[in-house]
Amino acid sequence: MAARRILLIIAGGIAAYKSLELIRRLKERDLAVRAILTKAGAEFVTPLAVASLAGEPVFSELFSLTDEAEMGHIRLSREADLVVVAPATADLLAKMANGLADDLASTALLATDKPVLVAPAMNPQMWQHPATLRNVAQLRADGVRVVGPNPGDTACGETGLGRMAEPDQIALAIEATLAIAGQPLAGLRALVTSGPTHEAIDPVRYIANRSSGKQGHAIAAALAAAGAQVVLVSGPVAEPPPADLRLIKVASAEEMLAACQANLPQDVVIGAAAVADWRVAARAPHKLKKAPGLASPRLELTANPDILRTLARPGPMRPALVIGFAAETEQLLAHARAKLASKGCDWILANDVSTETGVFGGGHNTVQLVRGDAEPEAWPRSTKMAVAARLVAAIACHFESRRTAAA
Ligand code: CTP
Repeated sequence: MAARRILLIIAGGIAAYKSLELIRRLKERDLAVRAILTKAGAEFVTPLAVASLAGEPVFSELFSLTDEAEMGHIRLSREADLVVVAPATADLLAKMANGLADDLASTALLATDKPVLVAPAMNPQMWQHPATLRNVAQLRADGVRVVGPNPGDTACGETGLGRMAEPDQIALAIEATLAIAGQPLAGLRALVTSGPTHEAIDPVRYIANRSSGKQGHAIAAALAAAGAQVVLVSGPVAEPPPADLRLIKVASAEEMLAACQANLPQDVVIGAAAVADWRVAARAPHKLKKAPGLASPRLELTANPDILRTLARPGPMRPALVIGFAAETEQLLAHARAKLASKGCDWILANDVSTETGVFGGGHNTVQLVRGDAEPEAWPRSTKMAVAARLVAAIACHFESRRTAAA
């Protein structure tokens, strides 16, 4: 695959120095970076520093004869796979929200047909101003993605929301945006299990767990956004159904397995559901009643089918890539490797679900990707959406390299 290209627009803010670090992070990820430095941006970092790190000339002037001859602003904005504005000042966000084009940066942003990601950085009062909030809401509605700002001390001496996201955080958001841009999974069939299962005790009571379905739903949404044809088999959750996929709602593990099997064949299966390991052996047909002197009921449990193991079994219906999760509270990697082997899946995302991590029900996750004997890949703590996007990027790479090997 040719190196993917980022057009990085550096606007005028003290956070511009962090954009130099961002260029490094992007180059480490084999992304090509071409930069536009606004006039105000050049007050904070020099064109020479930006050009040296990017390894390409920096563009600043809308009407520079040389630049226009060699590279028009239209070409500049179109040759990129993604346009990133970091730092994005209140002024540039306002221009973008209103379609102004009075310098090279704003003109390129108006002329681009590529996804745009902005990393705002400004004084906390400016960020909270109704005008900025209005502009950011408009940009989100226009499909612009926003990373940060973060809380903390700002250069102007005030504390609040306004610090630009850290370079690693922006790099992750860039990877996520690239993963779902350009439909890299078009034509691929994917099935995702998500949420808890409910195992009935009687018609009104059940055994369940704390899974929210956030991670599974985020993965299904990211796969669909990347062009895959997605079936999401979900236990009972409060998460809204993601767009552009087929949602099958189930309650118990047995129903979940039946729904998965009814939807084979698939190219990829991702078991993100927290499937109950046991169900009540004999479900009461009527509500269990209590009465004075009557002993408390004793629940006899029986093992549920292992959905992941069943789907990963060798055979003509086995998906090409089977991915499971290992939710652990201790010995994370050892248990994850054991699960990879015992379930017969190809990859395992190991995540620490100890209570203090707040993974269950929370918006963030910290995972390690375990693939066969290779060194596990530890991903930094990030939103469940970013984890999903990174997983989708890994899946896209996997199928891309299989295609290349087969060609
Ligand atoms: N899984 C499944 N069916 C089950 C149990 C688990 O498909 N009956 C899947 C989960 O969706 C997950 C993986 O198996 O992808 C591991 O689930 P986890 O809860 O971490 O482990 P268990 O297999 O339940 O083992 P244990 O409870 O002993 O940790």
